[in-house]
Amino acid sequence: MGNASLQAVRDVMSHPVVTASSGETVAEAAARMREQHVGSVVVVDGDLPVGILTERDLVLLSAQGADPSNDRVVDWMTPDPDSVSSDTDATAAFASLAERGYRHIPVVDDKALVGLVSMRDLMRIAAIQPADSIATDVPRGLEGVEVAETSVGDVRGLEGFYHYRQYNAVELAQKRTLEDVWYLLFEGELPTRQERERFLDEVRPLREIPPEVAAVLPEIARLGADAPPLEMLRTTVSLMTAALRFEPSLDVSADELRAQALRVCAVVPTLLMALYRLQHGEEPIPPHPELSYAANYLYMLDGKEPSPEHARAIEQYLVCTIEHGFNASTFTARVITSTGADLGAAVVGAIGALSGPLHGGAPSRALAMLDAIGTPDRAEAYLREQVSSGQRLMGFGHRAYKTYDPRSELLRGVAEPLGGDQVELAKQVERTAIEVLDELKPGRRLFTNVEFYTGVVMNTCGLPREMFTPTFASSRMIGWCAHILEQAADNRLIRPSATYVGPPPPQPVPDA
Ligand SMILES: CC(C)(COP(=O)(O)OP(=O)(O)OC[C@H]1O[C@@H](n2cnc3c(N)ncnc32)[C@H](O)[C@@H]1OP(=O)(O)O)[C@@H](O)C(=O)NCCC(=O)NCCS
Repeated sequence: MGNASLQAVRDVMSHPVVTASSGETVAEAAARMREQHVGSVVVVDGDLPVGILTERDLVLLSAQGADPSNDRVVDWMTPDPDSVSSDTDATAAFASLAERGYRHIPVVDDKALVGLVSMRDLMRIAAIQPADSIATDVPRGLEGVEVAETSVGDVRGLEGFYHYRQYNAVELAQKRTLEDVWYLLFEGELPTRQERERFLDEVRPLREIPPEVAAVLPEIARLGADAPPLEMLRTTVSLMTAALRFEPSLDVSADELRAQALRVCAVVPTLLMALYRLQHGEEPIPPHPELSYAANYLYMLDGKEPSPEHARAIEQYLVCTIEHGFNASTFTARVITSTGADLGAAVVGAIGALSGPLHGGAPSRALAMLDAIGTPDRAEAYLREQVSSGQRLMGFGHRAYKTYDPRSELLRGVAEPLGGDQVELAKQVERTAIEVLDELKPGRRLFTNVEFYTGVVMNTCGLPREMFTPTFASSRMIGWCAHILEQAADNRLIRPSATYVGPPPPQPVPDA
């Protein structure tokens, strides 16, 4: 405790620094970044740093269709970057720089560049806070407060990076199936070929809805004729876990809890699609035993086997939304599990938390904005008008990411090959919106978030808008369950305190 203040920037900075000169081309500087495996180069004039060029600038450059072999570093770098001196206390450096959304900061002594420090390194040190200061100074909404240890995954907002276990989540989405990543979250390792086969065999029969639950689904769908699918799912999962007699997590073995988690994660897509179809006067379609999670998800919507492109696009969406740190619904699931309550209670609570507009988001709202814009030529006027009149652009900005949301970049790449006017419009709107936000909301660092391309991908793959958030719940169920298993394996009741701010007690109780 408290050893943070003993560490200075010099203890964590890297040196020598990969540098560039302002006159060279962006392509030359980018090649050096690639060769040296660094995310930025410091632009120097002699020893003096005059700018910084980061991967983020390269993304912006390519998004704007510029030519890196023609454009010069000076055109794209951030000039006069903030810097720290090597003897600055690391925690203090983090505190003063964190808000500005940097990833790398030059370390300068006597006007000469001596190193480069990443926010990641500073953050690691700054996270070590004396327990007392945490107890007395908790920010509203618990923002930034570390409430548990986890090996499930993490989000590093300032870096635009998040991971599941030890792997980059975006890379997993690009290279692996949903089932592989599901296995990773439950078991801690990616499966071998045999483990994969065993896992698929284990999960396949669990997709079926238990008969006693299937029998009451038409009733639930009838009662909730206008109910959002997520509310019907919440009710049905509660009913199902009661019907299957899930015991309090405190009383069941780790193996039994894992089996319950698998059961719930496997059946949720079937429940969602069955409820959706019943709500629209159609019979549910049973899961297809030969299809993967993602392909089966689309199949159960209309009984048609989806194209491999659509199945893979949805799979990548599902993988990239499985887990995202200690968000409100994940925290809810862990709090409920910490009481020893059954797994059903924990996931129903999590669905409840996710259903709130501040959390589950609204990918359909981002799509509605694209509809309202209509054609690329109308984008700028529309976006300017919205921002100038104080409206928020749907699909932009994020509490944690003050740089590109890695999920939005992934999903742009998923949407592109699907083609279509909507994808082209979305790309145009994204470019214009970032420029407009940069101009009208300078310094706020507003970029595209996960919601923006989610709607485009789902819509192009044929999912109805009211199923966007439920689809999110389906993949996130796996993340919640991984956290439930972790919480139950090493449990302590989560029971924080609050500061009482009402009238001073004890006041005499008036006689009735
Ligand atoms: C996601 C979101 C809630 C994060 O909010 P936050 O971290 O609390 O950010 P703040 O509300 O503190 O906003 C900071 C500034 O950026 C502006 N801002 C944030 N998001 C904006 C957006 N999408 N469009 C325009 N301005 C935005 C705010 O108006 C504020 O400006 P101000 O300093 O002039 O008041 C917010 O960015 C938002 O509402 N985005 C649109 C809805 C959306 O896409 N939701 C899905 C999230 S995954």
